[in-house]
Amino acid sequence: MRLNEFKLERYFAKHEFTAKYLLSSSDCDGYKMQDLLAVADAAELKRWETIKLGYTEGMGSPFLREAIQKFYPKATLNQILVASPGELNYACMHVLLQAGDHVVTISPSYQSLTEVVESIGCQVDYWKPNSENGQFNPTDLDQLVHENTKLIIINFPHNPTGSYLSPAELTDVVDIARKNDCYLYSDEMYYKLVPEGTEELQPVSELYQKGISVWGTSKSLGMAGLRTGWLVSQEEELVRKIMSFKDYLSMCTSAPAEVLTAIALNHLQHFLKPNKEKIKKNILLFQGFVNDHAGLFHFVPPMAGSTALVKLNMNKTSLQFCDDLVAQTGIMAVPGNFFGADEKSIRVGFGRANFPQILDILNDFLTKGK
Ligand SMILES: Cc1ncc(COP(=O)(O)O)c(C=O)c1O
Repeated sequence: MRLNEFKLERYFAKHEFTAKYLLSSSDCDGYKMQDLLAVADAAELKRWETIKLGYTEGMGSPFLREAIQKFYPKATLNQILVASPGELNYACMHVLLQAGDHVVTISPSYQSLTEVVESIGCQVDYWKPNSENGQFNPTDLDQLVHENTKLIIINFPHNPTGSYLSPAELTDVVDIARKNDCYLYSDEMYYKLVPEGTEELQPVSELYQKGISVWGTSKSLGMAGLRTGWLVSQEEELVRKIMSFKDYLSMCTSAPAEVLTAIALNHLQHFLKPNKEKIKKNILLFQGFVNDHAGLFHFVPPMAGSTALVKLNMNKTSLQFCDDLVAQTGIMAVPGNFFGADEKSIRVGFGRANFPQILDILNDFLTKGK
């Protein structure tokens, strides 16, 4: 097994904490500890003040799994496993798959959704979007999935394109998995980051026996620093096996993070709503910016989530563009090819409050470069 470097994470490691501005982050601004504790009720504050800093349960403490369970009406506590999202992906793929197994995964994607299955030695086919509008068509997926397919991997709202499915399209995807009796791993990290008026998709673990849903605090809530995620599946034995694999990784979650995550989930709307409003405002602003720079960018506004993949109409590669941008302005952006996308594209993230200021500086950079 050989894992290639995680290109996106290495580029973030180089610039994220030194660049002045972040144009491509997929998470929303991180809330402060005081914001979270300010909404906690007396019982939640008591739990916070009396945390024991020992090990926690491998599955996640019951009070946290109870807070998670409210979002998955069909799930029992034994069908919910707490760990960091990347770890859950890694452990789940290793439990489900071996070399030679056939997998269909979404592409472009957050690298771990392709890299882990490739590193296991699976035969991998890629479900790609329409090149004009960035939408994924279940009919294309149907062509790729066969009787011997072990796993389909999806991610909606989609990072990086911001593509989303209608409930009917998700039903089609579930039907394709069911028809071929394969697992359906759904990375739902951007769950609930859906604009008003767009129908929210249900977690696939609610829709299908072999559906596996993963969500966490990083994106929708703006609490990436908690490092908390969870996996939900109707197959209790599968969840137990993933937990047992995880004994070789983090083993259990941090006790303070568990308490804070439960508080965040119990007051979800308080944290989610401002994130959705910020994203909506920034998308509108960016649309105006793209119009002002006619011909330079091809932008399909995201249907959901916090990011879009923006095509660049210029002579540089996207990596050259990003390197020049960060060196000359302090704005960090990330190239689309880190997600397996077009050479000439960048990801734009809409979840940051200083987005208008970043656009002003980007405007100067582009104007000077003319
Ligand atoms: C689609 C997707 N899955 C998983 C992750 C990993 O989430 P976390 O950073 O909370 O581990 C990310 C992070 O960018 C993501 O975009």
